[in-house]
Amino acid sequence: MKELIKKLSESFGPAGCENNVRSLISDEVKKLNFEHYVDTLGSLIVKVGSKGKQRIIIAAHMDEIGLMVTFIDENGFLRFTNIGGVLTSTLPGTKVLFQNGTVGVIGQEKIKEPKELDFSKLYIDIGASNRDEALEKVKIGHTAVFMPAFHQEGNRITSKSLDDRIGCFVLLEVLKRLPSSLPNRLYFVFTVQEEVGLRGAKTASYRLKPDYGLAVDVTRVGDTPEPDFKMVVSLGKGPAVKIKDSSVICHSRVVNLMIETAEKNQIPYQLEVLEQGGTDAGSIHLSREGVPSGVLSVPCRYIHTPAEMVDLEDVENSISLLVELCKTSW
Ligand code: CO
Ligand code: ZN
Repeated sequence: MKELIKKLSESFGPAGCENNVRSLISDEVKKLNFEHYVDTLGSLIVKVGSKGKQRIIIAAHMDEIGLMVTFIDENGFLRFTNIGGVLTSTLPGTKVLFQNGTVGVIGQEKIKEPKELDFSKLYIDIGASNRDEALEKVKIGHTAVFMPAFHQEGNRITSKSLDDRIGCFVLLEVLKRLPSSLPNRLYFVFTVQEEVGLRGAKTASYRLKPDYGLAVDVTRVGDTPEPDFKMVVSLGKGPAVKIKDSSVICHSRVVNLMIETAEKNQIPYQLEVLEQGGTDAGSIHLSREGVPSGVLSVPCRYIHTPAEMVDLEDVENSISLLVELCKTSW
């Protein structure tokens, strides 16, 4: 279990550049002999079951947040912009990795007040002494991600991009555990470009014409020292059933089905209202004439930092809940 989470979360996949992650996932899917294909924008679609009435999309995104090079100065320092919701406060002193293996460290110009810290005050140092030397390794438009540093401490793991490789892992584990006969037609979709606006899920759900949608993604927690921020979700208390975030108000039929299924199978769960943030369900539910959708969230600390943290028991309970949902008639 741990080995695959490590491989998934350490692989390179900023939005728009998901090919490494996709080939890792399709290698796993091939071992299981499910029909699968890649859609026009690059999402990987796995077809499960052909007899059921309802078509259900179950989505997790492959991409992660990252940085893109915008300018290289004469001394070889790189300026960059963000791919998705990168927090400037996490960047100074952080190491980043480019797809070709080049490693950089993020430096910061002098500022008087913390609130002055924006992307214009930050640069990447790849150890080049001038522009030509830098250009041998990195070009304008190249992207970088946080340096991989997977670690397990007891039941908890920290790594970059658990948002949403942990969701990809949950989907892969569910695929391994499904019985051969199912009441629904399931489409497991590993989407692209979620972090820049839920884009891959939009085109995949147009193509697949689902009756229902479910996204599997991480959510914030309120159990860390953070006096101004109130949220009931905690690490280690089970998967969260999303009620609302800024991209979707989850459909009551899906929410109730998730709660009933968890209770019937004695799987712990929590209710989630996320004040800021979105998931692929935000695109899926607005596809075509509208698709009743919900979200199964894995509680996660320090989202969008180099060290996101999840609890392995939550991961296991998320897998159990999703397996049971797949076995239920919707
Ligand atoms: Co995210
Ligand atoms: Zn996510």
